[in-house]
Amino acid sequence: MRLGTPLSMTATRVMLLGGGELGKEVAIELQRLGVEVVVVDRYANAPAMQVAHRSHVIPMTDPQILNGVILAEGPDIIVPEIEAIATEILAQIEAAGMARVIPTARATQLTMNREGIRRLAAEELGLPTSPYAFAGSAEELAAAAHEIGLPVFVKPVMSSSGKGQSFIDAIEDAANAWAYAQSSGRVETARIIVEGRIDFDFEITLLTVRSMKDGAVVTDFCAPIGHRQVKGDYVESWQPQAMSAAALARSQEIAGKVTEALGGLGVFGVELFVKGDEVWFSEVSPRPHDTGLVTLATQTLSEFALHARAILGLPVDVSQREVGASAVIYGGMDAEGIAFEGVDEALSVPTADLRLFGKPEAFERRRMGVALARGETTDLARERAREAAGRVRPVKG
Ligand SMILES: Nc1ncnc2c1ncn2[C@@H]1O[C@H](COP(=O)(O)OP(=O)(O)OP(=O)(O)O)[C@@H](O)[C@H]1O
Ligand SMILES: [Mg+2]
Repeated sequence: MRLGTPLSMTATRVMLLGGGELGKEVAIELQRLGVEVVVVDRYANAPAMQVAHRSHVIPMTDPQILNGVILAEGPDIIVPEIEAIATEILAQIEAAGMARVIPTARATQLTMNREGIRRLAAEELGLPTSPYAFAGSAEELAAAAHEIGLPVFVKPVMSSSGKGQSFIDAIEDAANAWAYAQSSGRVETARIIVEGRIDFDFEITLLTVRSMKDGAVVTDFCAPIGHRQVKGDYVESWQPQAMSAAALARSQEIAGKVTEALGGLGVFGVELFVKGDEVWFSEVSPRPHDTGLVTLATQTLSEFALHARAILGLPVDVSQREVGASAVIYGGMDAEGIAFEGVDEALSVPTADLRLFGKPEAFERRRMGVALARGETTDLARERAREAAGRVRPVKG
């Protein structure tokens, strides 16, 4: 195991496909280890580009263009940060032995489509999930909803962050849910998943890390992260989420199975629903998870440092040091080059810390930053994080 000098013949080169706030933190951690970082995204000045050695602006869903950039840069490791990527190119690059894909090209392909990962988890691995069916028309959707039993969630198979999702409790709403899914899916797949609702007590992200130790892959679990979602988007998270020993053991068992099936190295965000001692698998990101931003305040190594180390084949330490929470700061407006007031007031909240992502353009509900805080209890940490986030006021530039 050796690392080179960036911008030299020996450079260890990592290419991030997607340069958002999660990639920015991964890039910073890679920089700290002297890795050469190249960031690719579909718009200029994306957060991670601002801390990279080089960047490229391309449509990452275009296989030819993506292939061209990979060939020109010749990275040792390719790290997809988002799902909307021409993943078939990654499979070719991996098969040709030209670069390692994190965690594996197959994992990125399976998880970018809800059908791939759901069938793997439920049908191949036998993990408990919500009842589900796939549909390719409004009629099939209505039939599936009827079969599963209302209420149901309707989600495009190719979408994330709640886009195109609806929750219906009357069959009459099936046509609207279909139309909405079609309008907001990532691509015109004309395919959706219908999921029965799990009546959970709480939901968690179990960050699961596959890393090298003594020449073999080992799996470690971070302390569970609790979170609250609004319209498919996380608004606050905390660590640890209190849960029974049985539920935690079951969660680790499920996360261990699904990450082993996906393979490769790195951090996975395994989303689980918990009710008492019972646990259901929801979905998994083969990369750091947005709710895991809280680990910047709580763990010895944040999920980003863990990812950087794991993908490089280095050992990890998943220990938690502090109880903490994160709260999202939204744009609150549609505008370019916005400014933030009240940062001083926010940082006056005891233990508070901030990340402002530097996104060139704000939208009403776009995540522009996050407040972090610690406390003796998660309740106190959450209160502080929310207070700090609320004191940051986005204003027109
Ligand atoms: N079957 C279900 N039963 C109960 N709640 C659900 C179900 N499916 C989704 N939800 C709720 O909606 C949230 C978003 O769903 P999901 O994670 O599938 O969407 P997503 O678009 O991938 O979101 P993200 O990209 O933010 O993770 C879940 O975290 C959960 O709160
Ligand atoms: Mg999710």
